[in-house]
Amino acid sequence: MAEQFVINGGKKLEGKIIVGNAKNAALKILAASILTSKPVKVANLPQIEDVSRMKELLIDLGAKFYSDTFNCSRLRKTDLNYKIADRFRASIVLTGPLLARFGKVSFPHPGGCTLGKRPIDLFIESFKALGASIKKNGSIFTAISQNKKLIGNKFIFPTVSVTGTETLMMAATLAEGKTVLKNAACEPEIENLATFLNSLGAKISGAGTPMIIIEGVKSLKGGKWGGMSDRIEAGTFIILGVATNSHIKVENCEPDHLDALLAMLQKAGAKLEIGKNYVIVKPAKRLKSVDITTREYPGFATDLQAPFTVLMTQANGISLIHETIYEGRLFYTDILNQMGADIIMADPHRVIINGPKPLHGKKIYSSDIRAGIALIIAALLAKGQSTIDNIYQIDRGYDKIDARLRALGADIKRL
Ligand code: EPU
Repeated sequence: MAEQFVINGGKKLEGKIIVGNAKNAALKILAASILTSKPVKVANLPQIEDVSRMKELLIDLGAKFYSDTFNCSRLRKTDLNYKIADRFRASIVLTGPLLARFGKVSFPHPGGCTLGKRPIDLFIESFKALGASIKKNGSIFTAISQNKKLIGNKFIFPTVSVTGTETLMMAATLAEGKTVLKNAACEPEIENLATFLNSLGAKISGAGTPMIIIEGVKSLKGGKWGGMSDRIEAGTFIILGVATNSHIKVENCEPDHLDALLAMLQKAGAKLEIGKNYVIVKPAKRLKSVDITTREYPGFATDLQAPFTVLMTQANGISLIHETIYEGRLFYTDILNQMGADIIMADPHRVIINGPKPLHGKKIYSSDIRAGIALIIAALLAKGQSTIDNIYQIDRGYDKIDARLRALGADIKRL
């Protein structure tokens, strides 16, 4: 039988919790290792399912791993294993490095969280802009560059896309000439990736702003990744502390990456002490409702929307949650209603929460990573016992989450 979490809620938490390295940075660094034939050292990778899937894909291509160093000097193929790629969306970021270094890549439409349509048109269009031709055979796409070389060009993203920006930035690193990306995503993980690539000899400027300029180079050398604190994990733990009215310290975080969340929490009445690399949450007397709208960075992160929605079930008044990035990321609110919340879905992008409402334990199901962690928060603040099924989805993004929460005094068991 698949694993479950059994949670007895209603307890206050106490102590400190250390934030790990960012999933959405680590996955791209692993993909970027394809751009060089030299060894790349990646210490402290988060031990999560998505990282395991990315390693499996790289090994299937012919990459070698020795402890925390891996080597893509000799790959035996350039087509992504369909079965593995189908399990997580980030598999698509491998396409840019493979196309850039070997002139060819075949890949399926990637799987992952069911958050709505999640098209890949931007990847296809941006590869074409760098001179690649694209064919589709059944469900498999093949991109081929002329004479095994991509050609630098200007590409304006019609929609801001995180993995789209990262994939094209990696592809352009080995292209001939200069590439300019406009309307690029500005997430800190993109800046982190550019810093890593520059340390291998790439010439990238502007990452972290909407315009990124890449001067193509012939080859990259080896190097190492210094890591990056996971802002989504940090934000989730801070919300957990506020929602359970606890006194906890969230360590090894970058509060600067969480400005939009921290401002909203303070507006809602949370008591926070914000340090250089930590946030202390203290019990608050009364929480009041606030409205949020998810946006690209530096706006309110869609990946923190579900935990924040759980928090708003405990705030006084009416909150409007507007999810602008995905059209399928609010359906878990139905589960919160089964636990006692009063949430009305206005349309697939908006819910209205009438709080505060006491939540009670329930047998529930985790549909994706972020909804899954939000349900853990809901179960921890609810009275009584909850069982959460399909926790593979939570393990995709959070390293040993049960043990780390138990260290804060949470009553959570993995069965
Ligand atoms: N989009 C298109 N065409 C494309 C690609 C994207 O229309 O070719 C649209 C999407 O449908 C969406 C919007 O663009 O409406 C933005 O999506 P984006 O491409 O930025 O998302 P992503 O790159 O697939 C990354 C993270 C997500 C995070 C989003 C938004 C990774 C591996 N994933 O996804 O993280 O929610 O950016 O910040 O970096 C998660 O970790 O749980 C997660 C889903």
